[in-house]
Amino acid sequence: MDEKRRQLLTGISLASAGVLLNACRSTSNSSGSATNEKSEPAPGEHEPVEVTATEDLMREHGIIRRALLVYQESATRLRQDPASVPPDTLEKAATLFRVFGEDYHEKKLEEVYIFPTVKKSPGAPASYVDVLLAQHARGREITDYVLSITKEDRIPSHIIEPLARAMESFVRMYAHHAAIEDTVIFPAWKAAVGEAELDALAAKFEEIETEQFGGDGFDAALQRMEEIETSLGMSNLDMFTAPAPPKS
Ligand SMILES: [Fe+2]
Ligand SMILES: [Fe+2]
Repeated sequence: MDEKRRQLLTGISLASAGVLLNACRSTSNSSGSATNEKSEPAPGEHEPVEVTATEDLMREHGIIRRALLVYQESATRLRQDPASVPPDTLEKAATLFRVFGEDYHEKKLEEVYIFPTVKKSPGAPASYVDVLLAQHARGREITDYVLSITKEDRIPSHIIEPLARAMESFVRMYAHHAAIEDTVIFPAWKAAVGEAELDALAAKFEEIETEQFGGDGFDAALQRMEEIETSLGMSNLDMFTAPAPPKS
């Protein structure tokens, strides 16, 4: 199994990995490109879902945002009760961010296909590209830092505050970063490449994803994310419903 996919699937049962790989085979032809062929999913598999190139990028942001919510929640909990955040859970979130967010979404898609096209296009969106690249680089430094600290069984008490601050500043930066990409950069890229090329690029992105992860990287990342949220007791969406505002 490819190293990237192994990293994503660490801790996922072999049966689940098999379902993910079968789901991948049902959406790819022998050359690995995306196809519209309908095939009956085996019991336990989901129907293959076709996504556009921009939808693909935006749902990857969904995984990235969920990892950032884990950082945000972990920063709060670490200050209240350091023992409530197992370092290995934080390490899994940082590894997911590294493998799926940085090595795939940023390096293989945005920096190769999206940013160069937007940078060459006339208009305001091009002016964001250098900052977005600098933020990718800063994010990787912070991921290195989180990974280096979470290797041990225990986070030393003097590291709690700097770690919490690093994660919070990462969350703040990336929330703005992904929001600009969703609302300015991806629409500008879509306009620059045109509808016909977008379809070809959707297939290309699928091919890169299969090459990078040896299967459906999004499904594997989603499953990994759900496991991380469950281990931190964050899997119940309703726990995040805001309280009613004060009566005026
Ligand atoms: Fe980005
Ligand atoms: Fe992005």
